[in-house]
Amino acid sequence: MKLQKQFVQSVRLYFQEQGEAWLEKLPELIEYCEQKWSMKLKEPYSLSVNYVAPAVMEDSTEVVVKICIPGEEFLDELEALQLFGEKGSVQLIDSDHKNRIIILEKLSPGCTLAELTDDEEACWIAAKVIKNLSIKAPVQTRIPTIKTREESLRKIVKEYPNGIGHISLQTLQKALKIFTYLNETADKSFLLHGDFHHYNVLASGDMTWTAIDPKGLIGEIEYDLIQYMLNKLPNQRAYEVIEKRVEIFTEELNLNKERLLLWGYCHTVLATSWSVDDKDGSYSESFYQGIEIFKKLYEANFGGLYY
Ligand SMILES: Nc1ncnc2c1ncn2[C@@H]1O[C@H](COP(=O)(O)OP(=O)(O)O)[C@@H](O)[C@H]1O
Ligand SMILES: [Mg+2]
Repeated sequence: MKLQKQFVQSVRLYFQEQGEAWLEKLPELIEYCEQKWSMKLKEPYSLSVNYVAPAVMEDSTEVVVKICIPGEEFLDELEALQLFGEKGSVQLIDSDHKNRIIILEKLSPGCTLAELTDDEEACWIAAKVIKNLSIKAPVQTRIPTIKTREESLRKIVKEYPNGIGHISLQTLQKALKIFTYLNETADKSFLLHGDFHHYNVLASGDMTWTAIDPKGLIGEIEYDLIQYMLNKLPNQRAYEVIEKRVEIFTEELNLNKERLLLWGYCHTVLATSWSVDDKDGSYSESFYQGIEIFKKLYEANFGGLYY
């Protein structure tokens, strides 16, 4: 079986022996799907670390099959899909826990928000998708809260007493203080998408836009938007683009702008830290510039970022 090179490399890099064993088992899993659901799988989409392919059922219904990489994240995604139900996210048709398989409604044509050239238009659409998706956090759930992100940054602060990549210890500590402050003062809790960006919003039918690939997270809506804001930034005028995105989301979703900018600052420090490659020291420059942008935006609107 011929697999996409980048996909095989990522699976091996991030999941090592477990990933290798799963890659070997993939042909068997595909056959299992074809038999269990009487379907035929087609060529996969462009893959990251999960095997996702369109398929046709016996009655010609088109669906999408997602065979997930080993790990517990699959359970979060499945629960998020079940909880969102018919609200703004792609519809779950069936699942198989043991083999980590999800069957989804197929969105056609399936182009992503990344294909829109007008950044403001894409952002208004994204805001409406999030609006549709907004549901209160369930009382009991296995899905993690934003507190886990704060803990992730705390661990980095401890492990890198001299700072990480180009981020100084002082910046790490400031971001951690802000994370703690925001988590301690959060009063509304929602089920969040958890991986919301241009490539996870797809068009179907007459340009109805729907979120796919929810990883699930519990917390404030403001936090869920930061990843989108850092995505697809131009090399020039990134400040103005983020400023406009903040304005659009705040207006459409009636959000707390101050908290949005604070989440922006601390999450961007975390995301940049995650992107640092311990071997060669490289990091996401785009995320790195985002740290300064959120800081400047905060200062322009609310004064010094004294934490
Ligand atoms: N329901 C769907 N309808 C149409 N295309 C889909 C659907 N789900 C996924 N895809 C395609 O498969 C790709 C990978 O799926 P995704 O769930 O985002 O996987 P990953 O978790 O690896 O990012 C998407 O970018 C999209 O192109
Ligand atoms: Mg995805």
